[in-house]
Amino acid sequence: MPAILEVENLTKKYGDFEAVKGISFSVEEGEVFGLLGPNGAGKTQTISMLTGVIPPTSGSARIAGHDIKSDMNEVKKINGLVPQDLALYPTLSARANLNFFGRIYGLGGNELKERVEDVLRIVALTDRADQKIDEYSGGMKRRVNIAAGLVHQPQLLFLDEPTVGVDPQSRNHIFESVQRLNRERGMSVVYTSHYMEEVELLCNRVAIIDEGKIIAMDTVKNLIGILGGGMIYIGLEEVDDALLEQLTGLGGVKEAMLVPPPVAPPLAEGEDPEKETEPVTSNPIVKIVAENSQQAVVNVISFLNDQDRPLTSLEILEPNLESVFLHLTGKKLRE
Ligand SMILES: Nc1ncnc2c1ncn2[C@@H]1O[C@H](COP(=O)(O)OP(=O)(O)O)[C@@H](O)[C@H]1O
Ligand SMILES: [Mg+2]
Repeated sequence: MPAILEVENLTKKYGDFEAVKGISFSVEEGEVFGLLGPNGAGKTQTISMLTGVIPPTSGSARIAGHDIKSDMNEVKKINGLVPQDLALYPTLSARANLNFFGRIYGLGGNELKERVEDVLRIVALTDRADQKIDEYSGGMKRRVNIAAGLVHQPQLLFLDEPTVGVDPQSRNHIFESVQRLNRERGMSVVYTSHYMEEVELLCNRVAIIDEGKIIAMDTVKNLIGILGGGMIYIGLEEVDDALLEQLTGLGGVKEAMLVPPPVAPPLAEGEDPEKETEPVTSNPIVKIVAENSQQAVVNVISFLNDQDRPLTSLEILEPNLESVFLHLTGKKLRE
């Protein structure tokens, strides 16, 4: 499959702050590609550069072969953008809003009429289309927003956190619309979220983004595969290399390792760099990558019991993208 989107070393700086730190990825035609990351990771900044909302500081991207720097007019015909923030006229009906957006794209007459009815069907709002946006629930407004991004029949749709603040029913409608647009119309989609379940459900490949960088990119299946059968975090009073080796040798365990301690604060001026710094955590934490988490938990706990080593904490992480993120960054996706 040829790539519909190719991103190379895309960077966005604000003064000394780098919101997007040279990211590269590509999306194949007909793919639903996920950008998964916590708030502030750089998802919206990335999408905004790819859709001409803001200029990149450096780097490049091509959409169906058109460069975003030199060919944004063509790019805008191919792209559809559903921004994170709603952009609708609250006193107009959904249908009137969609007519308005269609005209911006140069549509008119019967073609516009057909397109508006089509996108209303896609988001399942035909019955309510003449109601004012003001009277809609948050989820319905979001669906009109999606319809507005579809009215010019884009080949590549950017959806930026489309389910934030949305009721469960609209959420399911949104998932179904994305799946149908992809399967029935071959639309390529870039879907951003900080909800791993959504990305697992909808996306084939996913880039995990944190602090402006892609820290992992693969199919959902392969990313989750990094964890084997899940992860177990145990707090212990003392840990040495011999213990880690013994734990690694237990049935169901792939690897046992000490979790790196949190980064110590920078030294104050004039402080001796050789001075010993106090550890930030009280108890060491061992991370166990399991081949089979249930078997590993049973074996690890009975082994530690036999050795008279009390557990100070225990956390079991299922093999999913949330755990992959924690494994790679030491942070939770939602804090
Ligand atoms: N106009 C701006 N000026 C300075 N920093 C910005 C601006 N817009 C966004 N940022 C910063 O860029 C980073 C990435 O933001 P964003 O792409 O919105 O994250 P996400 O969409 O993943 O939650 C954040 O730290 C945010 O505060
Ligand atoms: Mg965002």
